[in-house]
Amino acid sequence: MFIYSMGHYFPENVLDNKFFDKLDIGSAADWIEERVGIVERRSVLTPQQISELRYGRINRAQLKDQGAIESIASMSEKSWKMAMNRTHIVSEDIDTVIGGTSVPDDDIPASGCAISAHLGMERVRGFDVNSACSTFVVQCHVMRGLMLAGLTNEGAIFCAERYTTRVDYSDRRNSILFGDSSITAAVSSKHRPDSLKVVDSLVESAPSGWEHIHLPDGKFFHQNGAAVQKFAITKTIAAAQDILARNKLTPADAQWFIGHQANYRMLTSAMEKMGVPPEKHLYNVVDRGNQGACGAPSVLSQNWDRYKPGDYIVIAVVGAGLTWGSLLLQKQ
Ligand SMILES: CC(C)(COP(=O)(O)OP(=O)(O)OC[C@H]1O[C@@H](n2cnc3c(N)ncnc32)[C@H](O)[C@@H]1OP(=O)(O)O)[C@@H](O)C(=O)NCCC(=O)NCCS
Repeated sequence: MFIYSMGHYFPENVLDNKFFDKLDIGSAADWIEERVGIVERRSVLTPQQISELRYGRINRAQLKDQGAIESIASMSEKSWKMAMNRTHIVSEDIDTVIGGTSVPDDDIPASGCAISAHLGMERVRGFDVNSACSTFVVQCHVMRGLMLAGLTNEGAIFCAERYTTRVDYSDRRNSILFGDSSITAAVSSKHRPDSLKVVDSLVESAPSGWEHIHLPDGKFFHQNGAAVQKFAITKTIAAAQDILARNKLTPADAQWFIGHQANYRMLTSAMEKMGVPPEKHLYNVVDRGNQGACGAPSVLSQNWDRYKPGDYIVIAVVGAGLTWGSLLLQKQ
């Protein structure tokens, strides 16, 4: 499978660390920067709307009824347009659309169908693949499998996240972590000169840890931060090292590393433990926050013009489930 174009979209509303000081929940801007390394994040909600949520003057359902929460299809259209502007995409040739989000507009239908309808793609098979923050890697794994089996030739992968609409703004632990974004990847089974070849994909899980990160129906996101932190660092390293080793490569052979954008301090710790120098580490968590499954692929898209032919790119992600996975990409 070849990823021949990508696009990303970040909403315009900027939430800096000082904004959370004003919510009167004991949040400290310095604590966030020092412990998590996040300085800013983007939201589909305005700071005013978030303040109203914080003080219970409005709730998510009411904001949704007012049309104040940008839809998954609308966000996807923006990242799709960027992918279309970057590289020529013949949308009529796309036969499979895989959507994915942890924060859907509705339980039914699959976002892959709603997005396809919004973009006027009527002749595709649309469906969703979801695995919380590991979604993009799992989407690529599934699409690659379909292509290797000869079951599809041209595809599009969409992922959109809006965790800022599902956190409790009276909770300083979780409300400060997230940002919203969407990504699109155009993929083909045929070789394309300037594409990224998906050399290998790896997907793993440890289901007994499912309760450590949870977004219950109708409630707010919560996680066991300390337990998850240890898991996140060890599995980021394992996912990167395992995919390299089974392709007879070492970290020194790869030019670029991208991890799950949950916490900058965690990412730098994982990179140091693997011996990856700072100039090979790509990230956007500092000014975009934890964007769930869109973090790693939005970094991949933002740096699209930097990759040189022959470069290896390793993407290693971790997420609820518990899940982890990786992609080994090579620029053609
Ligand atoms: C979530 C995470 C940032 C929390 O960092 P931490 O160093 O573990 O911090 P803790 O939650 O133990 O909190 C330490 C103290 O800081 C406080 N604190 C938390 N948020 C704060 C904030 N915004 N401002 C000031 N203090 C804060 C806590 O309340 C706690 O104080 P207390 O003991 O008096 O209650 C970190 O654990 C993490 O990144 N975990 C991994 C997340 C991840 O990878 N998830 C993957 C799926 S998304």
